[in-house]
Amino acid sequence: MASPRIGVVGATGAVGTITLELLAERGYDVRAFASARSAGTRLPFGDDEIVVEEATPEALGAGDVDLFLFSVGTGASKALVPVASAGGAICVDKSSAYRLVDGYPLVVPEVNGGRALEALERDRIVANPNCCTIPLTCVLKPLHDAAGLKRLHVATYQSVSGAGAQRMEALRAEPASEHNLVMDWTWEGDESDEESKLRAETRKILELPDLPISATCVRVPVLVGHSEAIWVELDEPLSPAEASAILSEAPSVRVLQLPDYPTPADAAGGDEVLVGRIRRDEASGNGLALFLSNDNLRKGAALNAIQIAELLLGVTAEQKV
Ligand SMILES: NC(=O)c1ccc[n+]([C@@H]2O[C@H](COP(=O)([O-])OP(=O)(O)OC[C@H]3O[C@@H](n4cnc5c(N)ncnc54)[C@H](OP(=O)(O)O)[C@@H]3O)[C@@H](O)[C@H]2O)c1
Repeated sequence: MASPRIGVVGATGAVGTITLELLAERGYDVRAFASARSAGTRLPFGDDEIVVEEATPEALGAGDVDLFLFSVGTGASKALVPVASAGGAICVDKSSAYRLVDGYPLVVPEVNGGRALEALERDRIVANPNCCTIPLTCVLKPLHDAAGLKRLHVATYQSVSGAGAQRMEALRAEPASEHNLVMDWTWEGDESDEESKLRAETRKILELPDLPISATCVRVPVLVGHSEAIWVELDEPLSPAEASAILSEAPSVRVLQLPDYPTPADAAGGDEVLVGRIRRDEASGNGLALFLSNDNLRKGAALNAIQIAELLLGVTAEQKV
């Protein structure tokens, strides 16, 4: 198969910028799209530049791009993804538009990569999970396989880049004395949409629809890198040493031992989920407590979507041989 043609929709954003960087490193043939506001803007692409095109329905539905990576927000995804799909392209969407819709695969390649292939049987649309769900499931899946997940509590410490490029600029401009913790989510009763997404997406990916999950999501004044404090209760006993050994073998996970522990600064710019502070949870039977940090723009968004893309492009290339 000739080099696949990849379209990055939302190329000027926080996630789109990293997506272009990762695709340039991999040597892909790429076109960049964003809103009319950015049409004509030149963006760095490896040693070269790429000119941003307006993401019109005509451009995305023309059938001359093999796969689109969308990071444009839920409303724009709902309008543009079906058009690109109807034009014959594979679409990997990073918004919440398709994540919890029945029939659409929600994929973390290390956890449930096989599910992505289901998209090829229908309209070729795959959803990329929330930036906290991805590292969480990378850590939970091996623990579940070893000892069975019974219950999960999680508290997040999410960086401002999770809310987009403008929020990164705002934090850079803000005096440190004004930095605060915020819960800038949409409220659904007494819970935030971020918390309910984390629960529902984790259940869908792990295929544990009844797993009890309680989450508290908080935005912290950090530029890049989300962290999570995790308390799991397991069906079978698993010592901290056994959990460390299991996670050391898990793909995309790196275990840190004290005196080292995960921080967003250490995770930022890297591709791994850093996990540490693995210890017995004294508040529950068969309980473990853990702490993770991960680059939300890379494995939490752009990199995970590219891994899904490569999985699907590999399959379609084989089909064409
Ligand atoms: N940031 C994260 O850590 C993260 C992680 C996982 C998923 N996501 C998801 O990825 C999406 C983008 O997030 P982000 O953080 O990159 O946001 P962002 O920095 O605000 O960037 C948004 C991008 O979407 C483009 N856009 C907006 N409306 C558009 C439209 N109608 N047509 C075409 N392009 C449009 C913008 O183009 P202009 O520059 O032309 O306005 C910009 O390129 C969201 O759905 C978010 O939930 C983000």
